[in-house]
Amino acid sequence: MSVSITWHGHGTVSFLVGGKRVLVDPFFLPDNPAATIEADAIDAEYILLTHGHGDHVAHALSIAQRCNSLVISNFEICNWVAAQGHDNVHAQHIGGGFDHPFGRVKMTIAFHGSGLPDGSYGGMPGGFLMTLEGKNVYVAGDTAVYSDMKLIGRADLDLAVVPIGDNFTMGPDDALLAVKLLEPKVVIPYHFGTWPPITQDASAWGQRVLDETRSRAVILKPEETYYL
Ligand code: NI
Ligand code: MN
Repeated sequence: MSVSITWHGHGTVSFLVGGKRVLVDPFFLPDNPAATIEADAIDAEYILLTHGHGDHVAHALSIAQRCNSLVISNFEICNWVAAQGHDNVHAQHIGGGFDHPFGRVKMTIAFHGSGLPDGSYGGMPGGFLMTLEGKNVYVAGDTAVYSDMKLIGRADLDLAVVPIGDNFTMGPDDALLAVKLLEPKVVIPYHFGTWPPITQDASAWGQRVLDETRSRAVILKPEETYYL
């Protein structure tokens, strides 16, 4: 079986694994100006949340309640989701992995914040290192570059998804450094182009990846899909 990834704009991606959708950080229209679909237009068996910021948990509850999705995140965010009335959650934490029906998910560190929209404490922000149908995939979440990405790169990554927007996360130069540390076969940039402070030329960045690293960048448009 194959795995595909779809970028939904901003920090939202989803993987289709064996016919099940694994949705990361759901943020759709009308709140997400980079999205082209509304949250009602997507179903997900699983929802993964990297951190508590509004542009990442925005539509988690509405989709989870409609689809009875299993929500996977850190302990604090899972408790918050349960307190909103959705108790189909699976809490993990930084460094911990678990074999879910769709594949293995390990939470990784991220350097960022994680406060929830209502002011609740969202624990530590994270990323996800996953094995999906034998493919090693890393979704960085919102983060600065950090040298321990070198350790994540030991997983022999088939795909890394990294922010390039700058301002809230690493920008193009640091994201290029991240690619050198992670050494993925393919890198997909995200968390850019949503609002003026994070406008970036993704094609130019992709060319730099090709010229300056051993990886290849795949630049998606919102709702475009790449097959691993
Ligand atoms: Ni954030
Ligand atoms: Mn964000």
